[in-house]
Amino acid sequence: MIDFSDFDTRGYRTVDVATGYGQWVSTYEDTVEDVMDLALLDELTVPAWSGVRRTADLGCGTGRTGAWLRRRGVTGTLDGVDLTPEMLRLARAKGVHDRLLEGDVRATGLESGAYDLVISSLIDEHLPDLRPFYEEAWRLAAPGAHCVVVAFHPHFIMASGMPTHFTDASGEHVAISTHVHLLSDHVTAGLGAGWRLAEMREGVVDERWLERKPKWEKYRHHPVSAAFVWHRTDD
Ligand SMILES: C[S@@+](CC[C@H](N)C(=O)[O-])C[C@H]1O[C@@H](n2cnc3c(N)ncnc32)[C@H](O)[C@@H]1O
Repeated sequence: MIDFSDFDTRGYRTVDVATGYGQWVSTYEDTVEDVMDLALLDELTVPAWSGVRRTADLGCGTGRTGAWLRRRGVTGTLDGVDLTPEMLRLARAKGVHDRLLEGDVRATGLESGAYDLVISSLIDEHLPDLRPFYEEAWRLAAPGAHCVVVAFHPHFIMASGMPTHFTDASGEHVAISTHVHLLSDHVTAGLGAGWRLAEMREGVVDERWLERKPKWEKYRHHPVSAAFVWHRTDD
């Protein structure tokens, strides 16, 4: 496994996931860029969102992913799981989920074989090993289900030397424990859990990014995020 410390150019103080998101929560939605994940979700050709009946939103955070799903016509049951209570509090206020549970995406406690969509956006870099995540997604999935994963691109983490981070109330930049997963780590873990890869997209630093972050000119056209759509075919 690749250690982020080999690439770290920032040297920010690092905190664990619950501590970090517990503090980032007040500014999270103002700082996370929709072009990172929602723009990639917009590009996917599968699954047929409006036909989804039951969704597990793993690492649901403040409910951004859930709100996107509702806008895309997901009217069925939507259950969210996250380990940061402060993020869940905002998700509750947003009101797009049917159930919100405090828990770990690798052992959610949700019902086996019950979901025709498992979705997880922008959490993979917080998991030291992807395999327990893909295995839990497989456990939740009904036959024919899709699993959609949006990831922070390993190339960008390596090239920029930048962990997932936020600025706290005192103005300090604080990193949240970040792991680098090669794209092949996703493929190996996903296939190993039983999934078949149905679609994949990569987002690059384009004009939309540069409008928001002019200092990223040096990363123009570098890949910054990736989306995987997995299918449970049971063949
Ligand atoms: C960058 S936010 C993404 C939230 C939401 N999916 C979105 O796109 O805005 C990452 C979220 O993953 C959660 N998280 C990270 N590791 C987790 C784990 N092992 N189990 C449950 N939640 C986790 C954090 O608490 C945080 O709310």
